Amino acid sequence: MLPIRGTCRGIQTMDRRTLVGVAAAAMTSSASAATPKAATSKTASSTHQGFEGDFEPRGTTGRLERLPTLELESQQDFLTSFRKWTDRTFNSVCATRTNELFKAKGLDPNGDPDIQTVIDIIKDDPLVQASVRAWISCQQMTWQYLRDAYHAKADIYLAEMEKTDLAGPGTLELNPNMNIPDYTKHEIHLQPGGYVGDEFAGHVYHYGTNNFYKSSNDQDELHIKFAASVPPPRDGKVMRILELGCATGQMTVALKQRFPIAEVWGIDVGGPLVRYAHMRGVDLGVDVNFAQRLAEDTKFPDSHFDMITCYILFHEVTAKAAVEIVREAHRILRPGGVFFPIDFYTGSNKVSNNAHAKFRHYWDHRWNNEVWWNEYENLDLVGAMRAAGFSVDEKGPPAWIGTTNLLGTKSA
Ligand SMILES: C[S@@+](CC[C@H](N)C(=O)[O-])C[C@H]1O[C@@H](n2cnc3c(N)ncnc32)[C@H](O)[C@@H]1O
Repeated sequence: MLPIRGTCRGIQTMDRRTLVGVAAAAMTSSASAATPKAATSKTASSTHQGFEGDFEPRGTTGRLERLPTLELESQQDFLTSFRKWTDRTFNSVCATRTNELFKAKGLDPNGDPDIQTVIDIIKDDPLVQASVRAWISCQQMTWQYLRDAYHAKADIYLAEMEKTDLAGPGTLELNPNMNIPDYTKHEIHLQPGGYVGDEFAGHVYHYGTNNFYKSSNDQDELHIKFAASVPPPRDGKVMRILELGCATGQMTVALKQRFPIAEVWGIDVGGPLVRYAHMRGVDLGVDVNFAQRLAEDTKFPDSHFDMITCYILFHEVTAKAAVEIVREAHRILRPGGVFFPIDFYTGSNKVSNNAHAKFRHYWDHRWNNEVWWNEYENLDLVGAMRAAGFSVDEKGPPAWIGTTNLLGTKSA
């Protein structure tokens, strides 16, 4: 039997989520696209503090609570491996096929073709169709299995969150009567109920995106890296930090762990998200404040924060909201404070002019319900930051995609 995650008396261990990936790699000739990630060997020890009413039927793996049933965990493990295969191997085969179809028509796939041309050329190709179908079905099943599992035992999971609503460390503010903008009421990337329409949006988002990260983030590794990438103000004073659109608070927690004496806040339009984030913060014993508030109307006083950041918020809001969010960030930052938005295109990588990349983004919008993607591609975020009063460094420190990232500073 193959050892499963963790040390096993000197044997090099494997992460079981790589198993299908290994099999898929053996079946393909595209070695570079299919090479599985190096095996990890984290010990299955808990960093959770626990709280009265904590429901952890199957314990934790480091800072991730294990899924409540073996059935659900095995479904998600399978889907994670399947997603690795579709995202890497199948997607790269699809890119090769797209290039071939373009060349057969005497066209340059890297020549910035318009999306209608791309669709016309590739839409009837069975390999392209299968690739999209596989990816979307994986996405749909990921969300649905999670949602069904939490709803099937709703009383238990609601009671668990109720236990921490008023507990510390950290605080939770829910605003059930808040005016929720219509543009946030979509099932973005197909999550059932979206961010604001399902009481278990936090549970479902956390485990669904854990699948999306293809087992590279189950210990918040990426969020810890993002938190580490946010540059402090020049004067080094960091007393208050805010994350906008924090969802389940993975980066918010990491920011607090990086700046232990700062007061750290995460806000999000999704009440169920911040509720889950707070429960998780309590469970991890980290003193972070979560509030259900709007990024464009945060209710914080002027000049309040030293650092404001966000991760993949802007591509999920309208262009109008994006401009308002930038203005609000400028208002609540103190002079000399920094605004560090992390998203697709805030780094040095810009919109691609390659046919397959364009199709990939089209499909995200068309079938994965990335409702605001096109508005985001056309958004002049740098212009909005300058108009709001920021001095903008377009080659700030790297965060995620590319070698630099946008950095806004409020004039001192
Ligand atoms: C892709 S998620 C990113 C979440 C989080 N930063 C993470 O690390 O996973 C985008 C988040 O922005 C939130 N959001 C969207 N519009 C918002 C708004 N106007 N104000 C506050 N949060 C918003 C959504 O509810 C969602 O949690």
